[in-house]
Amino acid sequence: MTGAHLVTKKSANKMWGGRFSASPADVMEEINASIDFDKVLSPQDIRGSKAHAAMLAQQGIITKSDAREITKGLDKVAEEIAAGKFKYSRALEDVHMNIENRLRELIGPAAGRLHTARSRNDQVATDFRLYVRDKIDGFAGALLALQQALVEKAEAHADTVMPGFTHLQPAQPVTFGHHLLAYVEMFGRDRSRFGDARARLNESPLGSAALAGTSFPIDRKQTAVALDFDRPMANSLDGVSDRDFILETLATASICAMHLSRLAEELVIWSTPQFGFIVLSDRFSTGSSIMPQKRNPDAAELTRAKIGRIAGAFQSLLMVMKGLPLAYSKDMQEDKEVAFDALAHMHTALAAMTGMISDLEPVPETMRAAAGRGYSTATDLADWLVRELKLPFRDAHHVTGQIVKMAEDQGLELEKLPLAEMQKAEPKITKAVFTVLSVENSVKSRKSFGGTAPQNVRKMARAWLKRLEKDLEKV
Ligand code: ARG
Repeated sequence: MTGAHLVTKKSANKMWGGRFSASPADVMEEINASIDFDKVLSPQDIRGSKAHAAMLAQQGIITKSDAREITKGLDKVAEEIAAGKFKYSRALEDVHMNIENRLRELIGPAAGRLHTARSRNDQVATDFRLYVRDKIDGFAGALLALQQALVEKAEAHADTVMPGFTHLQPAQPVTFGHHLLAYVEMFGRDRSRFGDARARLNESPLGSAALAGTSFPIDRKQTAVALDFDRPMANSLDGVSDRDFILETLATASICAMHLSRLAEELVIWSTPQFGFIVLSDRFSTGSSIMPQKRNPDAAELTRAKIGRIAGAFQSLLMVMKGLPLAYSKDMQEDKEVAFDALAHMHTALAAMTGMISDLEPVPETMRAAAGRGYSTATDLADWLVRELKLPFRDAHHVTGQIVKMAEDQGLELEKLPLAEMQKAEPKITKAVFTVLSVENSVKSRKSFGGTAPQNVRKMARAWLKRLEKDLEKV
């Protein structure tokens, strides 16, 4: 007996069994099968197949009656999947072969005509694009909701004064509304980046076939339109081997997750008893199993951490794609698991942040008191010296530094330091200086475009609300 006869013979693969005499090693199935994760592409796979079958019939490549059979069969498969009755098999490797195999069981030989002028290479590229496009559309909606929650809070707190920080040291007073609107800007850029990624993604690889196109008279425009793509991709090699669309989506998601992480970190800091700037709702907090007094900002912490897996997925796919020669290589099957995971968590993080923002209650008294500490109106004092006494800014900076030092030595806030003391540093200072030393007047005075003044914040918030309403109509 030769070795070949000793190989335990499972059934040879139904799709290409003709060329093979031995069945795959068990570990081959383990490394090769993608069905455990790519089954989520089933709806997209069926949609793509229906568009392909309709086009084949339209072009006279298969008969209309075969196309009808195929379409009916695919609808039945879709029903079985939706009802949770579909039996996915690892021996059939991936979602494409699982569905085609079931189609054959349901409708017989006509199923074998579906794969005319098509390859799993253009099939998977098409399915994945459709999937990612849906996710991007979901993010657009989720980001809009988050922006809206932030703007509403910002408008309600246009006058709420808090310390603004640089180096996490008190710098100058700002308004809470202004701070929140900074994030509205960031999430606005994220939304626009997702939009850009979508526009570039929205070309159809279907009809690229294995890599070189096909000798059948297919109509790639027809399938592109049927799948809501803007146009067919122009190069078949690029069509099957391009993964920019998911890389770009993950890169964009990474930036967005970074923004979420920064905001989440602020929520964590602000909600500590030491800061006490905000109270996060019970809905987004947890207790401790041992310390009865605890209220932990778990949702904020987890949102802060999501960047890890999202940027990790981006890195992972970048490494997979690096150095791959044209066209398709099986390496590309590694594009899916990390991406599915990252995109799912992106969505959860956006939703959690929106909930936390809507629910959170600021504590204006604490913010106000903190804003007054740390000599946060020192710049206002220096500006006053420049404006009223015509001191050069550098000299004003120096004088102010001396006054801050005196206040510090006497344990007083700037506005509590007696005029006589200030005059030791600069004799020409008058009592009018006190008008600029309160935090309220400080923020009110910062009316320059983009500045923190409450009147600016209110105007910006209203403008954003209008813009968001318009954008919501488009989603
Ligand atoms: N499961 C495969 C993937 O995700 C589908 C394409 C397989 N193509 C091939 N020539 N083996 O990439």
